[in-house]
Amino acid sequence: MYKELIDRLASGEPLTSDEYLGLIGSRDEIRDYAAEKARAVRQKYYGNKIFIRGLIEISNHCKNNCFYCGIRASNSLAQRYRLAPDEIVACADSGYSLGFRTFVLQGGEDAYYTDDVLTDVITRIKSSHPDCAVTLSLGERSRESYAALKAAGADRYLLRHETCSAEHYGRLHPDNMSFENRVRCLKELKELGYQTGAGFMVGSPYQTQRNLADEFVFLRELDPEMVGIGPFIPHKDTPFASFPAGSAELTVFLLSLIRLTLPRVLLPATTALGTADPTGREKGILAGANVLMPNLSPAGVRKKYMLYDNKICTGDEAAACINCLAQRVKKTGCEIVTARGDYNGI
Ligand code: 5AD
Ligand code: FES
Repeated sequence: MYKELIDRLASGEPLTSDEYLGLIGSRDEIRDYAAEKARAVRQKYYGNKIFIRGLIEISNHCKNNCFYCGIRASNSLAQRYRLAPDEIVACADSGYSLGFRTFVLQGGEDAYYTDDVLTDVITRIKSSHPDCAVTLSLGERSRESYAALKAAGADRYLLRHETCSAEHYGRLHPDNMSFENRVRCLKELKELGYQTGAGFMVGSPYQTQRNLADEFVFLRELDPEMVGIGPFIPHKDTPFASFPAGSAELTVFLLSLIRLTLPRVLLPATTALGTADPTGREKGILAGANVLMPNLSPAGVRKKYMLYDNKICTGDEAAACINCLAQRVKKTGCEIVTARGDYNGI
């Protein structure tokens, strides 16, 4: 019965939240079948290619206070840093030599990075490397700001919605943040022509299986070009310190369902998945993921961008990570490629 649901999903039929709920509850029986179908779909649109994105963590200053996040404003134990424009550009230059053709500028919501500062950085990266894509992951900004950064040359924007339930969103965030504003941002990013990435945490506090089932209905409606998911991992200096971590095994199964729901989606096997399970990223690729995002941040700041405890790859040089990832990907029968890796849309 659940095989039939996977077949219907693979043939492009929309499933209901109840049907997704059934699949999630029966994942032990169906995960291998779902992964096989998800791999076939990825193969059809992207072959066995795995795209790499160079992640530059530009700042861990953040005005927000998300209950789950290690760089929340109230965490006075976080050692704060921000990269200067020259340092960001230098990171991108060294990443280019290593073969990266996408740079992801990620950071907390830090007022230092005005539109003028970011426009300068984006323009410099795009003029030295016109064959590269620039992805931003800098949180909620105004429509005018998103438009200005797009005009400066940004191609893509990552902004996880964290949960598709407004009520659940309210339990993960303080009252000055809202699900409505998050969705407003995502819709504006799409309208402005960004390749847009949404996403959620798996196993975050108070999440129900119904919330997870609803994620798929939400994602089908939003139709983002990218979806980032990873297990929730507690950070010791946050209000959620004593909640249990989310499951890597469930995350891997959900990756297959996302690939089947949004066939052409760019889908990373995330660092959080690799942190929750030492071979989590390989399992993610075998379940239908096709993106990896190794860290290009300068070695001196890596340990400071701690969203959750025990994050992997904080001591490694980017070049070491690439070699490591290349070996890991090879074992899955896929290969890392040097390509911008744009959304293969129709
Ligand atoms: N565990 C797992 N993921 C986290 N993120 C933030 N804090 C945690 C945590 N404790 C994720 C959020 C955010 C992304 C950059 O990192 O989903 O959008
Ligand atoms: Fe960083 Fe393996 S990917 S050490």
